[in-house]
Amino acid sequence: MGSRQHLRELKSGSPLPYTDDIRAYKREYAEALDAQDPLRSFREEFIIPSKEDLKRKTLVSEDSNEASDPCIYLCGNSLGVQPRNTQRYIEQYLRTWATKGVTGHFVPHDDQLLPPFVDVDTAASKLMAPVVGALQSEVAVMGTLTANLHFLMASFYRPTKEKYKIILEGKAFPSDHYAVESQLRHHNFNPKDGMVLIEPKDLEQPILSTEQIIQVIDDNASSTALILLSAIQFYTGQYFDIERITAHAHSKNILIGWDCAHAAGNVDLRLHDWNVDFAAWCNYKYLNSGPGGIAGLFVHERHGSVDEKQPDSEETFRPRLSGWWGGDIKTRFDMANQFLPQPGAAGFQLSNPSVLDINAVVASLEIFNRTTMKEIRQKSLNLTGYLEHLLLKYPLDAPPEDKPFTLITPSNPAERGAQLSLRLQPGLLDHVLHLLEENGVVIDERKPDVIRVAPAPLYNTYVEVWEFSQIFLRACKEAVKAR
Ligand SMILES: Cc1ncc(COP(=O)(O)O)c(C=O)c1O
Repeated sequence: MGSRQHLRELKSGSPLPYTDDIRAYKREYAEALDAQDPLRSFREEFIIPSKEDLKRKTLVSEDSNEASDPCIYLCGNSLGVQPRNTQRYIEQYLRTWATKGVTGHFVPHDDQLLPPFVDVDTAASKLMAPVVGALQSEVAVMGTLTANLHFLMASFYRPTKEKYKIILEGKAFPSDHYAVESQLRHHNFNPKDGMVLIEPKDLEQPILSTEQIIQVIDDNASSTALILLSAIQFYTGQYFDIERITAHAHSKNILIGWDCAHAAGNVDLRLHDWNVDFAAWCNYKYLNSGPGGIAGLFVHERHGSVDEKQPDSEETFRPRLSGWWGGDIKTRFDMANQFLPQPGAAGFQLSNPSVLDINAVVASLEIFNRTTMKEIRQKSLNLTGYLEHLLLKYPLDAPPEDKPFTLITPSNPAERGAQLSLRLQPGLLDHVLHLLEENGVVIDERKPDVIRVAPAPLYNTYVEVWEFSQIFLRACKEAVKAR
């Protein structure tokens, strides 16, 4: 099988077919799905907050009953839960720092979980690469998402008088919008003219078809310098056709970057094979590395090369905003003030990374590396497909007024990740949220009436999805009655 065909098949892997047989709506069916789940043991690797702990006015005490009374946590699209590993990694880091001081930078230890401080970034990129479908040299674990987008645009957005526009979604995450807007201003362009916003045709169903995106690219090809899109749209959960859109951008001589905040650790990305120019993501959502933790970026190998033979030439490496940590490791401590980057994404680093943060990322990536994104994606397709089936089909005889919501996420499983976004009828959101909270369900909302529900395949179960659907449908009914 050709690798292209293989990739297409992977991307369009299909969920279990769920039947309308009444037995499929019973809890026992969900239990049977859990029992057959090849990834079920991974749940034990994570700390799921208990219902009681969520309500406490103080922090969790030693006698927390997280194992016996877990909440239904379907919010990995916002903040992933804590891997049990994290504490061990961070304690080890604290012990290394406390007992070795500055020598911890260079001296390896027999019982280390990570190499000495100066090498932790390399260890992290090695574990990150398979998660996003990249070569190790194409990935750097560094910075934060918005800052990384700026660093990448500093390198990849090189406008001229003729070609200066940036194409992005009209409903891009605000930080991406601001980043693009400020990049344009930074280069003395007017964002009103320079930002090409792709707007959904139907605000009720704000999906952007690949054809529409391609049309916008075609319409602006001669004046566009860069495209920045999200791999998975934060609001609708739509998963864009990265491979096709990237190829189309390249056919028009336009560079393209992807914000993978909602895709990394969620879907089976193939950033290298899809020829993506650059990408950036945060690690605190599906990658469970803690709020605001250190982020990740990708630079395709063709953009990361360094020609050591011509150190003084403009052509030696791709221009970028530089710092010492991106410099050649061999000469980093020579302090010679002659910047020659490391080849690859590592050459885009600026500062020595927070080792504390890297430990949190590695604690999670280590779990991901015990399986594959292909397997994780397959479970995700099944789990989210099950959630959709229960929400839309159950109970079989439900009158329409019992379903006061619409699904705004694409119904094609290949066009979405774990998340389903549900738009409630006006005036129901607060009541529904209240009832979900009372029943120990954690999801998130986007006002005025959308909730986002994301079963994370490494720690969520089919029974949780079943329970959620029961609670949610009951909450909808009550909210309608109280309206
Ligand atoms: C799609 C997307 N882009 C950008 C950001 C901003 O991330 P950060 O605050 O880590 O820069 C977020 C945060 O949730 C996001 O979801």
